[in-house]
Amino acid sequence: MSRTLIKNAQVVTPNGIIASAVLVEGGIIASLDPPQNVVVDQVVDAAGLHLIPGVVDDQVHFREPGLTHKEDLAHATRACAKGGVTSFLEMPNTQPTTTTVERLHEKLALASRSCLVNFGFYIGATPGNLQELKAATRTPGIKIFIGSSTGDLLVDDQAALEAIFAETTLPICAHCEDEATVRANQVKYADSTDVATHSLVRDHLAATIATRRAIDLATRHRHQFHVLHVSTADEIPLLKEAPDYVTSEVCPHHLFFSVDDYPRLGSLIKMNPSIKTGHDCHALWESLLDGTIPVIATDHAPHTWEEKQLPYPQCPSGLPAVENSLALLLNQVALGRCSLSQVVKWMCQAPAKVWHLKGKGKIEIGYDADLVLVDLNLQLTIRNEEQETKSRWSPWDGVTLTGWPVRTWVGGNEVFRREGREVWFAPEPMGKEIEFAKDRERFVRP
Ligand code: DOR
Repeated sequence: MSRTLIKNAQVVTPNGIIASAVLVEGGIIASLDPPQNVVVDQVVDAAGLHLIPGVVDDQVHFREPGLTHKEDLAHATRACAKGGVTSFLEMPNTQPTTTTVERLHEKLALASRSCLVNFGFYIGATPGNLQELKAATRTPGIKIFIGSSTGDLLVDDQAALEAIFAETTLPICAHCEDEATVRANQVKYADSTDVATHSLVRDHLAATIATRRAIDLATRHRHQFHVLHVSTADEIPLLKEAPDYVTSEVCPHHLFFSVDDYPRLGSLIKMNPSIKTGHDCHALWESLLDGTIPVIATDHAPHTWEEKQLPYPQCPSGLPAVENSLALLLNQVALGRCSLSQVVKWMCQAPAKVWHLKGKGKIEIGYDADLVLVDLNLQLTIRNEEQETKSRWSPWDGVTLTGWPVRTWVGGNEVFRREGREVWFAPEPMGKEIEFAKDRERFVRP
């Protein structure tokens, strides 16, 4: 069994940051206090660096199968490894959609042949696939598009939604933008070719109506529920009042971009839910700090540069982010807006807990050795041409951030290393199918 000793790092544990060596044995964290004379295969001297658990990104769109001109699992998971993301949960709006158990298993088989990091796939709800949703087990949960976005998945009908919340037991998450409100706004602004109109079409009301509706369903059916990509200050009171089996997340683009950025970035920041105001960004940040929103995820949703150059409204919604999300948050640590331990809670520990991931999200004995060394002082500028994501662009192109991942392990295997601007990746897929805790359905109708 291979053994690696990572020594001299500042180790970010749930109980604080400690100066400690970490012994990895057979892909598992074996000790946080190994004996001086322990015999190992490899020693990593991490002086000056911090060791954190790998990031768990619970909302990504990796486009395979069917849309691989935009992204694929091999490119996306190299981007993950570089960005310090060691586990991802992927959305069902691929082609074909992941809406049957058979397609879910096909995606898992595909991933086991091509992913550098650990993988899980949601099963998507349709108005007519209740039996599939009930039969699926190898999935973190059910994704509902209560409002439509990229692709044609949509469950807007109240009776269909009631049935999903009443009859299934897996955790549910949803894209919450009210379809009727969005469609009415589309008619109202039909003549506009200004991309800023996107935030008037997918407005505050659309987000708030759908989030209220979804939380109401979850509460009445006592069903574990996660609000994806919260984008407005208006949703925060709803989240504060919700029962504790309702959780939520915010994405970097909703924290760091506002409508004021449309003149500079145009359709590159066209997203669903839309980018909102500076006031919303501020309120979302405060909700992370006060614990109302526990999770940060990216909604990594690449489209090609050419597709994004199409005029509004034809240009598609979505932007890539897994490669830079951790650095964006480490930069906030450098700015003094939050602590490293908070970043680890939001990006590693909380998503692993919400989705009941086995062995993920913490540096603790017995947990998987999905580990990332970060250099809190390293300054790098994001460059489109250096992106590993297949679309090779970032809305943060030209932005300099302080704090970057420099080395990543998945299950004890090194998958990424940075030396200056040079980067190295493991040549073989190292990712494994994520497993879920056996008691994960405990929230449901106790
Ligand atoms: O802007 C978005 N794009 N939001 C989503 O929820 C879906 C995503 C995509 O798949 O392109």
